Amino acid sequence: MLCILTLGLYFLIQSLIDPQSKEFHTLDKALKSWAPIFEIFQNSSAKLIIHPSETIQLSHNTTENWGSNIKDFPEYTALFFSTYSVLVKNTTNYDILYVKSEMEYNVTVNMTLEIEYMDRLHSSKIDRLVVHSKIRNPVNAKVCKMNGRGYWDIKTQSCYCHYNTVKVCIIVNDSLDIVDWYKNGCDGKGYYIQDMITWRTNNPYTNLSYPIIIEVRGESDPLVFASQNDLIEFSQSSKDYTILGAVLISISTLILSIPFSWLYCQKRKLRYSEMSSEPRYKDSI
Ligand SMILES: *[C@@H]1O[C@H](CO)[C@@H](O)[C@H](O)[C@H]1NC(C)=O
Ligand SMILES: *[C@@H]1O[C@H](CO)[C@@H](O)[C@H](O)[C@H]1NC(C)=O
Ligand SMILES: *[C@@H]1O[C@H](CO)[C@@H](O)[C@H](O)[C@H]1NC(C)=O
Ligand SMILES: *[C@@H]1O[C@H](CO)[C@@H](O)[C@H](O)[C@H]1NC(C)=O
Ligand SMILES: *[C@@H]1O[C@H](CO)[C@@H](O)[C@H](O)[C@H]1NC(C)=O
Ligand SMILES: *[C@@H]1O[C@H](CO)[C@@H](O)[C@H](O)[C@H]1NC(C)=O
Ligand SMILES: *[C@@H]1O[C@H](CO)[C@@H](O)[C@H](O)[C@H]1NC(C)=O
Repeated sequence: MLCILTLGLYFLIQSLIDPQSKEFHTLDKALKSWAPIFEIFQNSSAKLIIHPSETIQLSHNTTENWGSNIKDFPEYTALFFSTYSVLVKNTTNYDILYVKSEMEYNVTVNMTLEIEYMDRLHSSKIDRLVVHSKIRNPVNAKVCKMNGRGYWDIKTQSCYCHYNTVKVCIIVNDSLDIVDWYKNGCDGKGYYIQDMITWRTNNPYTNLSYPIIIEVRGESDPLVFASQNDLIEFSQSSKDYTILGAVLISISTLILSIPFSWLYCQKRKLRYSEMSSEPRYKDSI
C-alpha cells in the first residue's frame, strides 16, 4: 500500500516536472531542421534500380500515424518516399548467402537508390538487402511442429523457420546520400522487419515474389530523429500525471486508514491488557 502511495507522490512530482512538454520541446527543435529538408524532399523524385531493365518508382507519402492520438503533439507535415513492391522478380538476380551450412541462409538483392533533385542525381548502392531468411529457431521439436511453422531437422535436432522481409527503411542524410543502416530505423524497429511464414518441409522456399514496403526517409525526419533519441513513446501529459497521482494517493490513504484505525483500536485494547498482565511478568522473574 505504501508502494501505491509512493507511486502517487511520484506521479504528482512528474506532473510538476512535466516531462512531456520537455519532450515536445526537443521535438520542436528537430522540426526546425526538418523544414528545409522537407522542401528538398518535396522537389525530388526517387527510384530503386534493381537491374538496368528493372526500376521501381517511389512515390511521395505523407501518411504518419505516429503521435496522431496525442493532444498537443507538435504539428508537422510528414513526407517520405515509399513503395510496396516485389524486389525479387523471376528475371532478377539475387544471392543466397549461407551461414555455416545449407540449413541457414539469407536471400539478398543488390540495388541502387537514385534521388533526383534540381537535375542532379544522387545515387547510393544498397548491397545485400535481406529479403528472405531461413534461420534456426531455438524451440523444441514439439513447439516447432505444434505451430506448424517450422521444419524439425532430426539430424541437427533443430527447428528451422522461414522469414519474409515485410518492411525496409532507408535513411538518407541532408545531402541525399544513404547513411549507414540505422539500427533504430524508421520507427525504432530496425532497418528491416521480418515475418515468420508457414513452411513445414525441408524443401527450399521458392516463392520470393512478395511485395515489401520500402520507405526512404530523411535523417532529419522527425520520426527518424525520435527513434534515435528514444522519443517514439511520449510520457503522460502533466494533467494525466496529476489525475493519476491524486487517484492513487486517495486510494492508498483510504485503504491505509483502515489498518491504522484498526491498529488504534487494538492499541487501546492492548493498553488495558498490558496493565492487567504486568504483575504476572514479575512473577516469572
Ligand atoms: C522547390 O520548388 C519550388 C517551385 O518549384 C521552388 O520555389 C522552391 O524554391 C524549391 N525549393 C527547394 C528547397 O528546392
Ligand atoms: C504510405 O505509407 C504508409 C505507411 O508506410 C502505407 O501504409 C501507405 O500504403 C503508403 N501510401 C502510398 C500511397 O504509398
Ligand atoms: C522464370 O525464369 C525461367 C528461366 O530463368 C523461365 O524458364 C520461366 O519461364 C520464368 N517464369 C516466368 C513466370 O517468367
Ligand atoms: C551484390 O553485391 C556483392 C558485393 O557488393 C557482390 O559480391 C554480388 O555478386 C552482387 N550480387 C549480384 C546478384 O549482383
Ligand atoms: C542473415 O541475416 C541475418 C539477419 O536476418 C543476419 O544476422 C546474418 O548475419 C545474415 N547472414 C548472412 C550470412 O548474411
Ligand atoms: C552525407 O553522406 C555522405 C556519404 O557518407 C557524405 O559524403 C556527406 O558529407 C553527408 N552529408 C551530410 C550533410 O551529412
Ligand atoms: C507467391 O506469393 C505471393 C504473395 O505472398 C502470392 O500472391 C503468389 O500467388 C505466390 N505465387 C506462387 C506461385 O505461389
